[in-house]
Amino acid sequence: MRLLLLIFPPVSLSLCPEVYGSSCPVLDCWFVQERKGRGGGLTGATSQEKSLLRIRRDAHSLGAEAQRQPASDISPDRVYDVTDPAATLCHPALSAPRGSIHKPQCEINPFLPQPSTLKWATALTDSALSPVYLQADWLSVSLQGLDGQLIQSSIMRAPTATKEPQVILSVSSKTVSVKSRLGEPVLLDCGFWTDSSSPLSGSGFAVEWRYQFRGDGRLVLAYDGKTDRLAEMQEEGATLDFEGLHEKGNASLILQEAKVRHSGTYICTVFLPYLLAQVAMDLEIVEPPSLSIYPSPLPLAVPGQVVTVHCEASGFAPLSLEVSWEFTGADGTSRSLGSGSLTGHRQAWDGTYSQRSKLELDTSKLDLGRGGEVTCVAFHSGGTQRASVTLNVIGFSTPSIEDSMAMVGVALVLYGLIKLVSWTFISENHHC
Ligand SMILES: *[C@@H]1O[C@H](CO)[C@@H](O)[C@H](O)[C@H]1NC(C)=O
Repeated sequence: MRLLLLIFPPVSLSLCPEVYGSSCPVLDCWFVQERKGRGGGLTGATSQEKSLLRIRRDAHSLGAEAQRQPASDISPDRVYDVTDPAATLCHPALSAPRGSIHKPQCEINPFLPQPSTLKWATALTDSALSPVYLQADWLSVSLQGLDGQLIQSSIMRAPTATKEPQVILSVSSKTVSVKSRLGEPVLLDCGFWTDSSSPLSGSGFAVEWRYQFRGDGRLVLAYDGKTDRLAEMQEEGATLDFEGLHEKGNASLILQEAKVRHSGTYICTVFLPYLLAQVAMDLEIVEPPSLSIYPSPLPLAVPGQVVTVHCEASGFAPLSLEVSWEFTGADGTSRSLGSGSLTGHRQAWDGTYSQRSKLELDTSKLDLGRGGEVTCVAFHSGGTQRASVTLNVIGFSTPSIEDSMAMVGVALVLYGLIKLVSWTFISENHHC
C-alpha cells in the first residue's frame, strides 16, 4: 500500500473541500434499467448487468487503482471512467479493503433530465434553458457505504456515446440510521455538491425534505432557492441552517424536539434545473420505560396467601416490551418468578406507550421464607429497567436456625425466671 502511494501520489488535493487521504475507488456496480418491450414501451421488468466505475478526480489523472481492468463478465459498454472533481465518490466508506467480502453497494441507472413539477423547484427551470447541454447520456448512481456510514446519490453526464461521465450533482448523508431519545434535538445530515462549471448550477437549487412511514408520506419542509425562502412549512420545529446551506451545501434537517411521531424514513432531495438527487435515512425515537410497582409497600402476607403485585411500565417507545419478575431472598440469592401476565398497551397523548404486568405470588407454592425483594425487570430497546418492592411473610411455617436459637433463648430465660421466683418464694417462707 505504502509503495503504491509513492508511485501514485494523491492528486489535485486543492480541488477537494473534503480530502480523503488516498486514491478514489473502483466501484463494482449493478447497471439496472427498465426492460424495453416489443413495441418500444417499458414492460415494468428490470434488467441487471454488472458494471464497473473507475473514479478519478480530473479527466487527466489516474487514481492508484483507476487502471484496474474489468473482470471478463463485465461488458466493456458497462465500464465507466467517472470524473468527480469534488471527490464525492472517494469517501473511505466507499472503498472496500482488498479481498474484503463486505463491499459498498452500488447501483447505476439511466437518468432522464426533466423540468420539475414541484412548486418550489419549477422556478429553477425558467432561466436555465440549455437543451444542447441536456442532450447527453445522463446517469444516476446510488451508493451505500460500509457499516452504514454513508449513503450517496449522484447525477452524472457523459457526452453522448462516451463512457466518461462527469459528476454534476451529489447528495449524501452520514446519518443513515439515527436513534434519539424523546425531547432531544435531532440532526439528519444531508450535504450536497454541484459542479459550478455546469450551465445548470447558475440558477440556484431547491431542497425538499419528505417523511414516510408505512406507506404514508408528508412534506417536512421545502426550500425554494429562487426566492431564498422556505416554500412550505408543514412540520413544527423543523428547520435548516441557511448559512450552511449556501456556504457549504449543508441541507441537514434539524428537528428541535424529537417526538414519537417523528420515527420513520426521511428523504432529502436536492434539485437543480432538470436534475434531482436524493438520499433516504431512518430515524427512530427510542425511550425506555419508567416503572412503578403497586401496591407499595405490599401488605404483610401469611403463608398460603396469594399476593398480587402489578408493575406499570409507562412512557416508552417503540412498542416492544418484555417483563419478567425476580425474587431475592433474605440470604441474597435471586431466582426467577416468571413473566407474569402482560396487559394490552395504551398510548398516551405524546405517543408513548404503557403496559402492565400482573404477578400472582402464591406463598404456599413458592419457598419464600420470611420474604425478600420482589423485582420487576422490563427489557426494552432503550434499556433494561428495574423496580423492587419488599415482601414480608409473617407466621412462617418453617422456622430458620436463628428462629430456633431465639426460641431456645426464650425458653432458657423463662426457666431462669421460674427458678428465681421459686427460690424467692422458698426463702421468704423460711423467714416466716
Ligand atoms: C450542517 O449543519 C448542522 C446544523 O448547523 C451542523 O450541526 C452540522 O455539523 C453541519 N454539517 C457539516 C458537515 O458541516
